[in-house]
Amino acid sequence: MNHHIAIDGPAGAGKSTIAKAVAKKKGLIYVDTGAMYRALGLYLLRNKIDAADEAAVIAACEKADVSIAFENGEQVVLLDSENVNGLIRTEAVGNMASACSAIARVREIMVERQQKLAKNCDVVMDGRDIGTVVLPDAHCKIFLTASAKVRAKRRYDELVEKGVPCDLKQIEEDIIKRDERDTTRAASPLRQAEDAVLVDTSDMTIDEVIAKIMELSDG
Ligand code: DC
Repeated sequence: MNHHIAIDGPAGAGKSTIAKAVAKKKGLIYVDTGAMYRALGLYLLRNKIDAADEAAVIAACEKADVSIAFENGEQVVLLDSENVNGLIRTEAVGNMASACSAIARVREIMVERQQKLAKNCDVVMDGRDIGTVVLPDAHCKIFLTASAKVRAKRRYDELVEKGVPCDLKQIEEDIIKRDERDTTRAASPLRQAEDAVLVDTSDMTIDEVIAKIMELSDG
């Protein structure tokens, strides 16, 4: 059986930073499933499809070829063969991704693609439903979280470093709203798998979190 590590948690908990580092240390492939929903979000924005029009979003999801490839050990997100890595990190794309990920049929299609990716390789996969739905047999499941305040401050620092004007209070409100939407949607809402270990990173450094996950996934 392949070696699978599942890392779930809310937006801004540090999943991708941690998952990437753990994958590198362990020589596993890192799969960022949020990037797949983001690529679909980008497709919807480009084609002016309203996220509230479920039938149109499902048709788009069936038509848009969203896949993941690896170049020099880095994940590349492909939308109809175009590398969209540099285009999917905006707030507008994130909001579209969040809206379309609430549609059950969209999730079914994405989960199937993600399971195919993990079928024949050892992966660290991060997202919202990896331990509960995508890889229920993963040998190590982590639920990574931090308080909304800490997550907002991390996001704020990131944006300030990039020179993007932003407001800490607004970011915290957006995070709380996104958590609410991700945890209350009917289709596989964000929740901790029963056999996942909860790691609250509010008072931990990145290195401490990486060390903790390394320890948990070795055990
Ligand atoms: O992790 P992220 O911010 O890149 O994810 C973007 C959106 O995609 C997020 O609002 C929730 C959704 N998502 C999901 O529903 N299931 C996943 N496995 C990954 C992401």
